[in-house]
Amino acid sequence: MGQSFWEQLHLALTLLLLNLGSAVTRDAPYSCYGVPGLPGMPGAPGKDGRDGLKGAKGEPGIPATSATQGPKGMKGELGSPGSPGKSGLIGPPGPPGDPGMMGFAGPPGMPGSYKQKQRSAFSVTRQTSEHPLKNVPVVFNNVITNTNHDYNTTTGKFTCKLSGLYYFVFHTSLTSNLCVVLYKNNSKMASFCDHKTNTIQVSSGGVLLHLSAGNQVWLQVNDYNGMVGIGNSDSIFSGFLLFPD
Ligand SMILES: *[C@@H]1O[C@H](CO)[C@@H](O)[C@H](O)[C@H]1NC(C)=O
Ligand SMILES: *[C@@H]1O[C@H](CO)[C@@H](O)[C@H](O)[C@H]1NC(C)=O
Repeated sequence: MGQSFWEQLHLALTLLLLNLGSAVTRDAPYSCYGVPGLPGMPGAPGKDGRDGLKGAKGEPGIPATSATQGPKGMKGELGSPGSPGKSGLIGPPGPPGDPGMMGFAGPPGMPGSYKQKQRSAFSVTRQTSEHPLKNVPVVFNNVITNTNHDYNTTTGKFTCKLSGLYYFVFHTSLTSNLCVVLYKNNSKMASFCDHKTNTIQVSSGGVLLHLSAGNQVWLQVNDYNGMVGIGNSDSIFSGFLLFPD
């Protein structure tokens, strides 16, 4: 840039004074210069200058220490969900499902043998001189015949597998009074009592019963429980299917 604003102003004032001086000299040649006037009042402050150039970037600040750290900030917003993780190990097998629908009936089977299929017969003995327990099934513990294990030598009960008409019969040796009750599924079917009048006696009874599959039959004694199975005096319980349904 050439001359500054102040240099230009100074030059303009000088020219103005010289011009005034020549004019005065010309109009009033007899006067001389007067006393300089008093300095004028300070002018009003100029307007603010324009913003300066941006300063250079400062030195990096001193790293904050834990002592000078400010208070903990507010909890940030929830981040976006991460990508799905890898699939885990295969879990243990679940419980078995419900049974499926019943299938269609199959084709008729080969003709069976009546002798092999429709069989149920047992004869069991009780080999002990001890009297049986009261009011529970008498257990005949020795098997002579027991097709398909229909008579259970642990429980003393016969369980019907083939529904039909059955015949049950017992012959018991007794050393004191004896009452034998034949049960079908918790119902009394027949009861036989004998008072001891001889050293050893035999008491017997039998019944025909219609049974459905699942029905159970057994013998029980009450307070009169003198049943034994010794030497030549057996107690034997038998049953068999007479006519299948
Ligand atoms: C006899 O009955 C017992 C007791 O219920 C049972 O554990 C056993 O398997 C049965 N035996 C037979 C041959 O069914
Ligand atoms: C009675 O008989 C039925 C079959 O008719 C059988 O399912 C059941 O287990 C038997 N026993 C009793 C105590 O009801």
